[in-house]
Amino acid sequence: MNIIELINKKRLGLIFSDKEIKYIIDNYMNGNIKDYQMSSLLMAIAIKGMTDNEIFSLTKYMLNSGEKLDLKEIGEVVDKHSTGGVGDKTTLIIAPIVASCGVKVAKMSGRGLGHTGGTIDKLESIPNFKVKLTKEEFFKEVNDIGLAIVSQTDNLVPADKKIYALRDVTGTVESTALIASSIMSKKIASGAKKLVIDVKVGTGALIKNIEEATKLAKLMNKIGEKNNIKVICILTNMNTPLGSNIGNALEIKEVIDILHNKKENNLKELCIELSSHMVSLGLEISYEEAKDKVIENINNDKAYNKFLEFVKYQNGDINNLKESKNKYEIKSPKEGYLNEINALELGKLSMELGAGRENLEDSLDYGAGIILNKTLGDYIKRGEVLMTLYTEKNLKASIMNTPIFTINKEKKEKEPLIYKIIK
Ligand code: URA
Repeated sequence: MNIIELINKKRLGLIFSDKEIKYIIDNYMNGNIKDYQMSSLLMAIAIKGMTDNEIFSLTKYMLNSGEKLDLKEIGEVVDKHSTGGVGDKTTLIIAPIVASCGVKVAKMSGRGLGHTGGTIDKLESIPNFKVKLTKEEFFKEVNDIGLAIVSQTDNLVPADKKIYALRDVTGTVESTALIASSIMSKKIASGAKKLVIDVKVGTGALIKNIEEATKLAKLMNKIGEKNNIKVICILTNMNTPLGSNIGNALEIKEVIDILHNKKENNLKELCIELSSHMVSLGLEISYEEAKDKVIENINNDKAYNKFLEFVKYQNGDINNLKESKNKYEIKSPKEGYLNEINALELGKLSMELGAGRENLEDSLDYGAGIILNKTLGDYIKRGEVLMTLYTEKNLKASIMNTPIFTINKEKKEKEPLIYKIIK
């Protein structure tokens, strides 16, 4: 076997055997296959696709590249994953809700890259919060309070780390075969047997249309089935950002507001939906019964108190969240209905303000970001504040021209938040 033959094979749209996929992963990990050869192969895969069996093999060998977490010391847990969006702080709201309902959550999360944020960066914006725990500390926390969120260990699917970094700079992120194997290898390695995946669809997401998202969801369900994991995929709208705050510490403030029942928006609605599916899976009760419990635990502050308990357990202090010193108010140049808020442009702007990183080694300004002062469907008068930017930088006036808001005379019909559930 040699890599040039394999690249040519995929370029012609032919199918790899299980052995060939093992050869590719093993030899990429030991350095025999170079980054430039792997890039070429990834591009051929992104263009020609893979069969289900090829994807099962790819997932298996990526999984075998590192350690697998055995959760028997903590018993059954339910995991959750999002394919990534703008303002997506759902994990930090859902995990305490679900734990307060008696379902354990042992979550490994990642950092943000590009225009989408990462849970670990958001948690690190809480002063003193510890995201690195030993396996023993991680298990102890889940056993003590029913919940822990930590950063992924370096040895959790190292093949995905290496391949994802390459995909990110070679235009090969948006392939259902590569996304499904990347997500599912990490989820299988994390040890949960029940999993809810929020598949984001729209301008601010990796997947731009419902057909592709459906394909990805079905693929992840099949990989789950093959690996004895029950997977529920929920296709959700990412044309508009979730909630009103974007940027690490600003997002933590919104998490607190939602858990404290001080805010009603698309973020809260989505968190109730995802939590209800997780509780239904974990307690083996109907979705309706689970939803009643979820809403009850938000209303009686059990979910909020669980969040406080979790932050304290990991040494964090939510009293001194950072806010960057320069504040810019962006005002509406015209009057009409706010019909669109471009999630992708907002994500990119937030990154420019200092809230996100272009390269993994970039440092973050935890207090930077955006607060949307208006929401979809609002009637806007000329000169009203649409959003407030927070940054330590001095911004150029041109930043005010970023095409984020669409304001028209006619009100556009509201888009659904949840498109489809695929079990
Ligand atoms: N999230 C992942 O973990 N991997 C992908 O390929 C895309 C989104």
